[in-house]
Amino acid sequence: MARVVVGKVSEIPPGKRKIIVPFRGKAGIGVFNVDGKFYAIRNICPHKRGPLCTGELTGRFDAEAPPSIHGVTLSVDSLGEILRCPWHQWTFDLSTGQCLVDDTLRVAIYSVKVEGDDVVVEYDG
Ligand code: FES
Repeated sequence: MARVVVGKVSEIPPGKRKIIVPFRGKAGIGVFNVDGKFYAIRNICPHKRGPLCTGELTGRFDAEAPPSIHGVTLSVDSLGEILRCPWHQWTFDLSTGQCLVDDTLRVAIYSVKVEGDDVVVEYDG
């Protein structure tokens, strides 16, 4: 397993990200801090190769029934752990890389560890 220090914890506070380009290819990766938990995901969308990690973080929305003239009741979970591609709004789970729009698509993710003040990303060498 190869590993690389991608920055200091203080550089990526909760709610922030750091995009590292290049990293195992020109697209690079995005390292996200979601409430103190770190995620790393490849910075390329499998749909049309958009810059995935520049997109907004959102949650997983669910409705108990289709919208009607009486409105819609939505529930949300995994808030901040769903990444929305800026090009066509497809969404991806940061923890798995799974596309929520097309279940045949997945983006590469990497293990992230905090060692002292260093943020370390691991990958298969
Ligand atoms: S390129 Fe990402 S949704 Fe189309």
